[in-house]
Amino acid sequence: MADIAVIGGSGFYELLDDAERIEIGTPFGAPSDAISVGTVGGRSVAFLPRHGQGHQFPAHRINYRANLWALRSLGVRQILAPCAVGSLRRELGPGAVVVPDQIVDRTTGRIRSYYDQGAVHVSFADPYCPHGRLAAVKAAAASGTEATDGGTMVVIDGPRFSTRAESQWYASAGWSLVNMTGQPEAVLARELELCYTSVALVTDLDAGIGPEESVSQEEVFEVFAQNVQQLRKIILETVKELPEERTCGCSRVLEGMTIPLELP
Ligand code: ADE
Repeated sequence: MADIAVIGGSGFYELLDDAERIEIGTPFGAPSDAISVGTVGGRSVAFLPRHGQGHQFPAHRINYRANLWALRSLGVRQILAPCAVGSLRRELGPGAVVVPDQIVDRTTGRIRSYYDQGAVHVSFADPYCPHGRLAAVKAAAASGTEATDGGTMVVIDGPRFSTRAESQWYASAGWSLVNMTGQPEAVLARELELCYTSVALVTDLDAGIGPEESVSQEEVFEVFAQNVQQLRKIILETVKELPEERTCGCSRVLEGMTIPLELP
């Protein structure tokens, strides 16, 4: 039905003009919303707003397992994941686009695996699809945005923003971005042998990095809204750049393992 999916973040609730809406259930419960399916550049594309209608689900309450399972059951094998991020580097100001290459997972208590039985230990040294990352960087340039190629995204539980000390600690470790949804979405995609690429839009300098007293939700939503059309353009362009045939390792992650589930 679709081979590529876009999981839209805060303020990214629509992508496709002529889309069919599909309600779909999963063994893990309901995804965040109905999934819209349409066509972009001859490729069939699904769109799912990560936070649901009207931002119903905050980052720590999203059913990440249901979202990815539902997309895979529609045939999706490549995922583009735009998201809002705070910056831990002054040179990456609001409006900057980054295609991260690493994750530091600081979340706790989220369900982060499909496999509660047996030995299923997926490789995650490079958490993002190399071909998807390349496509996103190229597509950004073609859309008039010089995206930063690489960077480490720290994922926090939220819903609160970081303290100044936390933020300075992350920055001193050399990490570049902070957000609340990057995990377990990336690892669950890997566990389903999906290609997964994050495209991060900086909405703020995190507390302790910029001159402001702290980050505000209002600022995050406002900057995202100002940049969402450009981000949409980059994502649509990336869809056209994604290879039709997958030759990266993402599709072979589970080779040789005994999976306690039948994947859709
Ligand atoms: N999303 C956008 N800005 C953020 C920040 N500063 N911290 C965590 N998540 C964010």
